[in-house]
Amino acid sequence: MISSDCSDPATLPASGPGGVRAVERCDALGIAPYSEEPDRLFRPYLSAAYRATRDSLAGWMQAAGMKTRVDAAGNLVGRYEGLTPDAPALLIGSHIDSVRDAGRYDGMLGVLLGVEVVARYAALGQRFPFAIEVIGFGDEEGSRFPVSMLTSRAVAGLLKDVPTGMQDAAGVSLQAALAEEGLELEHMPEAARKPGEILAYLEAHIEQGPVLEAENRAVGVVTAIAAQYRFRVSVQGVAGHAGTMPMTLRQDALAAAAEAVLAIETIGQSGPSDLVATVGQLTVAPGVPNVVPGEVVFSIDVRAGDAAVRNAAAAEIRTALEALAVRRKVTLDMTLQQDLPATPCDAALTNLLSNAARTTIGDEPRRMVSGAGHDAMVVAALAPVCMLFIRCEGGISHNPAEAVDPSDVDQAFLVMTRFIEDFAGHCP
Ligand code: GLV
Ligand code: MN
Ligand code: MN
Repeated sequence: MISSDCSDPATLPASGPGGVRAVERCDALGIAPYSEEPDRLFRPYLSAAYRATRDSLAGWMQAAGMKTRVDAAGNLVGRYEGLTPDAPALLIGSHIDSVRDAGRYDGMLGVLLGVEVVARYAALGQRFPFAIEVIGFGDEEGSRFPVSMLTSRAVAGLLKDVPTGMQDAAGVSLQAALAEEGLELEHMPEAARKPGEILAYLEAHIEQGPVLEAENRAVGVVTAIAAQYRFRVSVQGVAGHAGTMPMTLRQDALAAAAEAVLAIETIGQSGPSDLVATVGQLTVAPGVPNVVPGEVVFSIDVRAGDAAVRNAAAAEIRTALEALAVRRKVTLDMTLQQDLPATPCDAALTNLLSNAARTTIGDEPRRMVSGAGHDAMVVAALAPVCMLFIRCEGGISHNPAEAVDPSDVDQAFLVMTRFIEDFAGHCP
């Protein structure tokens, strides 16, 4: 567990903002052993770094007055009881996994803000008609296994069928990764919360885009999250000798994939500004200098605020890829791996959050659609959700240069506490 002078709730003024400490803790978690790599942050689901992070976070949750547990999907959950035992909960959270070479605030900041909020109420001895639970979800990024948000899907009760056949890049199965920490794949769906146990979900997250900074605003309120597709494309050509195979006779899988990548970019550029299409992962086999590539596997991520726009772009991509495969005499298979629908945030909660922001900051908050995916889009199947965005420097994210201004995070903390107090006033 991290020991640092930012870990003692007694050092926090009971009524003061907790944003600064949340930022310090994100920074402390940005290095080994909280990262799998010594020189950059990479914290995949169920890795040793993931477990080390979860242990430190559990310590901070306990110090903040919460009881903690790891659920059947490996998520960390802290609970601060309400006025009565077993009261339904307001859930606050985000994810604790990261992309490779990540920034320190994506996901983790929202979890640590939840911890700060509870620390404040515990220090004041204040309880609500509802419990407050803080959750650190395990795999929002999907940076280890082929799909993302299995753990929030489990909590939302959407993991009806156990996800079989999933392996990471090193060939470790999801089943084996869960078993390493005493969890069983067959029991993963048991992380599901019962209807009525969760009253609402609040997720604070860095914006990961440039709008708030351009408008000189500390925070914004999310109205909806864009629809996402993830595909796996495999291209089979014919491997051959790089010195003897004439250019005209090649069935080069990588050259075909390169053309595909450019076609995908062109299609992404041809729609409305919220349509985006990305190839972020590509492997080449056999991957040696003197062999014409025989096989390429790559990912496609397609998103848009409107699912119809996303779907049309994906159909156009499929047509373009099939056509180039025929022309280049390779075989191509494009398989859908993940379909996350566009998710509106709950209108009443979003209004409550906007009011909290207006009261705290004295200004009508910016309302915006999130192009980035969040656990909130899955939790929406379980409970009404709302999201608060926090300005980040240059809009940069999924990049070690990710940065936040601690005073913006203090503002977010104040908006969250105001929201909770207003929510208590609306609570049945
Ligand atoms: C997660 O950050 C995503 O939007 O893919
Ligand atoms: Mn991310
Ligand atoms: Mn995130």
